[in-house]
Amino acid sequence: MLSLEVQIGSLRLKNPVMAAAGTFGFATEFAEVFDPSILGAICAKTVTLKPRTGNPPPRLWETPCGLLNSIGLENPGIEAVVREELPKMGRVGTVVVASVWGEKPEEYGAMAEALENTEVEAIELNVSCPNVPGKGFVGAQADFTADVVRAARESTTKPLWVKLAPEGEMVAAALAAQRAGAEALCIANTFRAMAIDIPTGKPVFANVVAGLSGPAIKPLVLRWIYELFPKVEIPLVASGGITTWQDAVEFIMAGAHAVQVGTGNFADPFCMPHMIKGLERFMEERDPSGGEVIRGCAHRR
Ligand SMILES: Cc1cc2nc3c(=O)[nH]c(=O)nc-3n(C[C@H](O)[C@H](O)[C@H](O)COP(=O)(O)O)c2cc1C
Repeated sequence: MLSLEVQIGSLRLKNPVMAAAGTFGFATEFAEVFDPSILGAICAKTVTLKPRTGNPPPRLWETPCGLLNSIGLENPGIEAVVREELPKMGRVGTVVVASVWGEKPEEYGAMAEALENTEVEAIELNVSCPNVPGKGFVGAQADFTADVVRAARESTTKPLWVKLAPEGEMVAAALAAQRAGAEALCIANTFRAMAIDIPTGKPVFANVVAGLSGPAIKPLVLRWIYELFPKVEIPLVASGGITTWQDAVEFIMAGAHAVQVGTGNFADPFCMPHMIKGLERFMEERDPSGGEVIRGCAHRR
């Protein structure tokens, strides 16, 4: 039988389709819709050292083919997540990836330590949230990324993935993350963007800037995957407007090992199960190795 299994650093996933951070809660929320154990992995909502209430409303704004969000990392804090959410996630039956964000490298270190004896199988270091006033706010930064990976690396034995912003020093930050010990790169978080509310004539969001996601950003992120693939040695996990199996195939052909689905889950909660089925059918015909042959084929002459 065809296998879609894929190796992301030291982790083996049953297939390359994962839920993206912040769009699938802590997985149990979706369990009534479909069985989340079919997914390659689930990236939990980003957590911080202390609880955060998030940004004032409005937090979501639809655009043509896209979604602006300004959630602001609302979460109950690492202690509550470790105690209440991760044990439930651990029972879902697929790989659980935690996502952490901090203002300083030491905060990432502290959270990596707190996750050491939990159900989590990898930690995604979110250095790219555009909705909180941290370093990632202005795009990828190589030095900060390296400091964050080092701080986390010293505090845990778990595999570390790094989620970068699609702006700023993207290539330098990707190489810095790899040098500092990251096993994979998640490319990318949302793009900084905004909307104006015509009746008031003011920006829609209290922070002015919000994060743009959804199909509108797919070609932009595809270009990043294509550009990074020959430059880095660690696997690329693509995130940006991926909603169909055809999108996933394009990203694999550009060089990605796996894909994360975010906004697509809101438009169609069955988007990921359909994507897995579509990939199975496609690979059976085109690449029975499950992706090894077509990965990066867009680069071959
Ligand atoms: C409502 C919403 C909340 C998000 N929350 C997080 C988060 O907590 N942590 C994170 O790393 N990314 C977060 N993201 C970004 C997504 O994980 C994803 O990287 C991005 O939306 C691009 O993928 P998409 O176009 O498939 O949504 C969020 C996105 C949305 C739309």
